[in-house]
Amino acid sequence: MFNVLFFDSGVGGLSVFRDVIAEYQEIEPCFLFDNAFFPYGDKPSDFIRNRVTDLIRRITEMYHFDMVVIACNTASTIALQSVRAAISIPVVGVVPAIKPAARLTKRKIIGLLATPGTVARSYTHDLIRDFAGGVQVLSIGTTELVRIAEDMLAGLSCNLGEIAEVLSPWTSLPEYRQPDVVVLGCTHFPHIKNEIHCIMPQAMLIDSGRAIGRRVRSLLGAMPKKMYPERETSVANVAFCTDMSMLSEQNRQVFNRFGFQKCLEFRPDAGQDM
Ligand code: DGL
Repeated sequence: MFNVLFFDSGVGGLSVFRDVIAEYQEIEPCFLFDNAFFPYGDKPSDFIRNRVTDLIRRITEMYHFDMVVIACNTASTIALQSVRAAISIPVVGVVPAIKPAARLTKRKIIGLLATPGTVARSYTHDLIRDFAGGVQVLSIGTTELVRIAEDMLAGLSCNLGEIAEVLSPWTSLPEYRQPDVVVLGCTHFPHIKNEIHCIMPQAMLIDSGRAIGRRVRSLLGAMPKKMYPERETSVANVAFCTDMSMLSEQNRQVFNRFGFQKCLEFRPDAGQDM
């Protein structure tokens, strides 16, 4: 078994966790979500880079992990390099599935549905330049859908009208100018895939989850199996939030449903100020 830390601002990363576990079961997972600063999508890039790097460095100093999965596009597109430089175990990041989308589109128009942060990142622009040549990329940056996904997973009812409103820059176009492939470039969005499909039934919706699962399987599969699991410093099946006072009972139940038996607080004095 390998100890893997999954990281996100909220429950979005659970969509990646689910896809990784579907690919590879030899994992004792731990989840860290930064609910003190949720959502990430509207925060300044420097803040996200420093915050994510600091949190992951500190938690990996405290507990044993074999790998970190940054299950958040907003964080990966800005902090992947600095996290990799700060710790010595493999770090897998999640970035928008632009490359497969560009291969799949027949209309040569793809949609990127992500947070405002991810849409604005030079990392994302480079992905588009390198892998979507000759394809038109229409982007929507939204934090609204992130909140809707959190609420839905927590059992609150979903208002399809709100989702339709977010997607209206695309759905108001004549059909031949709409994207036929939509990249769910935020890990919260696979949780509301059915609802997005209701609004854009003709579009193919893709995300990076299964590809991350295959990447994790190939990296962990090549690591030597541990003879003596480092039980004393491992934290299997724990979900850490960064502010317990903001954790709702519904959110706790969401993590329980995904197999995380305990929710604890991880609050290093990072001295973070925005
Ligand atoms: N789930 C994250 C992502 O993939 C972050 C959403 C947010 O906190 O804004 O982008």
